[in-house]
Amino acid sequence: MTCPDPADLMQPFSVDIDLQQGLMPNAASHLTRHASDMRGHYADTDALARLIDSGDPLHYEVFEVPVPAQAGQWMYCISTLQPGRVGDEFFMTKGHYHTLAETAEIYLCLRGEGYMLMKTAGGQCAWQAMTRGKMVYVPPYWAHRSVNTHEGEPLVSFCVYPGDAGHNYGNIEREGFPRRVFLRGGEIVIE
Ligand code: F6R
Ligand code: ZN
Repeated sequence: MTCPDPADLMQPFSVDIDLQQGLMPNAASHLTRHASDMRGHYADTDALARLIDSGDPLHYEVFEVPVPAQAGQWMYCISTLQPGRVGDEFFMTKGHYHTLAETAEIYLCLRGEGYMLMKTAGGQCAWQAMTRGKMVYVPPYWAHRSVNTHEGEPLVSFCVYPGDAGHNYGNIEREGFPRRVFLRGGEIVIE
């Protein structure tokens, strides 16, 4: 193994994570998605329009300290998804494939309750429950979307994935997911 010139080496670093609140106080990047960013993703478009008109609430946040988007690096973030529903459908993230579809991802749930919905371009669909301490492995080629089914708490996850994975949202905007998560008659249903 040859080590690069010291001047070319990235230096070790650390960040603080507020595990309970689902925040990275000193994050270099803080992405927010509101109801109005979610057009086209929910089954009940009228309910989404009403939600946007009634104040366009926050849906989710992603806190990152970006690392170089290169093979060999690990990109990581805190993803915090608020509780709520659009009509009967629980709040969820947009969902994406990775641009490098052959890259996997790990989600460690830190707080809350929900599901990770996953699908492949070949028509397979799967889901895993998310609760504090559950680690969900999203294998290569699986698109993934998290869903918050708790009435009052955010769904907080620590995510880690290869630096060069990238995000492909376009395919999900066209295809959607074959399953959705609803509250029906007081029960959580995936249909
Ligand atoms: C990264 C990843 C998560 C999501 C985050 C927001 O590969 O899967 O960090 O980016 O949960 O969801 P999306 O990106 O679907 O809006
Ligand atoms: Zn991902």
